Amino acid sequence: MNPFKVFVTLACAGLVVIVGLLAGYHRTEVVQRGYRGTALNQLYRESYFVKEDLINKFPKPLGQAKTDGPKASETYENVHVLGDLSKGQFARTMLSIKSWVAPDVGCNFCHAAPIYNSDEKYQKRVARKMLEMTRHINTDWTAHVGKTGVTCYTCHRGQAVPPKVWFQATENDDGLMQKRPLQRPPTPAAAYSSLPADSLTEYLLHDDSIRVNGTTALQTGNRNSVQHARQTYTLMMVMSESLGVNCDFCHNTRALASWELSTPQRVTAWYGIRMVRDLNNNVMLPLKTELPENRLGPGGDVPKIYCATCHNGSNKPLYGAPMLQYYPELVRPGGPRPLPGQEGYEATPAPAPAETAPVTTKTAEDKAPAPGPDTAALIKASVPGAGAPIGAAVGGAGPAAAPGGGR
Ligand code: HEC
Ligand code: HEC
Ligand code: HEC
Ligand code: HEC
Repeated sequence: MNPFKVFVTLACAGLVVIVGLLAGYHRTEVVQRGYRGTALNQLYRESYFVKEDLINKFPKPLGQAKTDGPKASETYENVHVLGDLSKGQFARTMLSIKSWVAPDVGCNFCHAAPIYNSDEKYQKRVARKMLEMTRHINTDWTAHVGKTGVTCYTCHRGQAVPPKVWFQATENDDGLMQKRPLQRPPTPAAAYSSLPADSLTEYLLHDDSIRVNGTTALQTGNRNSVQHARQTYTLMMVMSESLGVNCDFCHNTRALASWELSTPQRVTAWYGIRMVRDLNNNVMLPLKTELPENRLGPGGDVPKIYCATCHNGSNKPLYGAPMLQYYPELVRPGGPRPLPGQEGYEATPAPAPAETAPVTTKTAEDKAPAPGPDTAALIKASVPGAGAPIGAAVGGAGPAAAPGGGR
């Protein structure tokens, strides 16, 4: 055989192998979050950042409006939530919600211009509830959203229906012989795992206790079942997926249940779970009477909120872009009010439909983990870097705030 041909054949084969290997290559970034050797790392693929950057860009905020002049309540006829704003702030808010929720349709998504005071469109009635909810999150749930806060865009991302919502799983009848059990079908609400498909109903609508480990040596003290364990893991998968992180973003995997060994982010997450329950029970469920049928799920339930609704794959929504600094209009004047379960709490006056789940029954073990300064201080002292959340650069929207620092 001609040696040249042999050479060319071998060279081609070599090239194919190299190209093949390169095609499967993904650069991985390792973000160290604890002592060397403790395996407290977060792993990210480079392609993940590219996707992330597209989803998590916040549109340029409008210039601030004057706060003086007549109030919206004095200017307009049918304003129930935003009455405290100046006329300029009110206009700024309308312009912004248009671009956040209905950029294609415009003002007429909620109104029938030139008549703005009518409540005929369901979209406007829902939007009013949403304005109330957004202010409630930003004013009463600072234990979770901090000073960063949320706008309509945090969830809606330029669409009428937020890209990430969930519905209760239904028992799909998928054949003559067999009913599909409520686990195994890989659904987004189970983070595509083969775990129970509907842990979100138990944990983000009802307030089942999220526990696996018993706290007593003997079985007697542990009410938790294998079912609980499986459902807890589903929720944990969903939370990790929603934030684009691994389990050890919040836990030290040596002792998952231990609050002392957990990161401060786990405490933030604990409040997040309570916040989501509040929003689903007190805002979303009552919308059943407003939303048209085509917005409801296969089981006839309303679309519901979970971690990904705001987070969309980022440990802080929109990389921690400071929503409240840009949009002070979305904080309710008068300071925080009591939350569900706290003394003096008043539920929203809207009559809750039968679907509403009880949110008052709390078991002792479900009490706040009393994270307090000790936990945070302990973690900071023992795990350098754990106190500094990755991608935490509040104030900077955009890639500079992405995990990986320098990027
Ligand atoms: C996503 C729904 C939505 C969009 C889009 C929207 N609005 Fe509104 N608008 C509302 C809601 C809700 C209220 C009532 C607010 C309240 O009760 O505090 C309102 C109230 C108003 C009022 C006061 C009417 C009155 O007399 O009571 C005016 C004026 C107005 N909007 C103008 C606009 C303009 C102009 C645009 C487009 C730039 C716009 N809106 C886009 C939901 C919307
Ligand atoms: C925490 C997440 C979240 C925030 C923040 C939020 N929304 Fe929503 N919104 C939802 C969900 C979930 C739905 C239900 C989706 C559906 O209607 O199918 C919804 C529905 C709506 C609808 C009805 C859309 C339709 O066509 O059915 C309107 C209008 C709306 N929101 C406006 C707003 C406005 C205006 C703001 C800001 C003041 C806002 N939302 C903030 C989650 C949110
Ligand atoms: C964003 C933070 C966060 C992430 C990520 C996370 N967890 Fe959790 N985990 C929590 C919180 C908060 C609780 C306690 C919930 C409560 O009490 O309401 C918890 C509880 C648990 C428990 C129950 C502990 C007990 O007391 O019995 C287990 C087990 C667990 N997580 C495992 C995991 C696993 C496995 C992963 C990764 C797939 C994971 N977690 C990811 C925040 C997180
Ligand atoms: C209404 C929107 C919203 C929802 C829903 C939401 N979060 Fe958050 N979350 C935020 C905002 C905003 C921040 C940033 C807070 C800050 O900058 O201090 C945040 C921060 C966090 C952090 C701290 C991240 C860090 O880098 O320090 C964790 C952990 C977290 N959320 C977990 C969760 C979990 C788990 C859920 C679901 C059970 C959830 N969140 C649901 C808005 C939300």
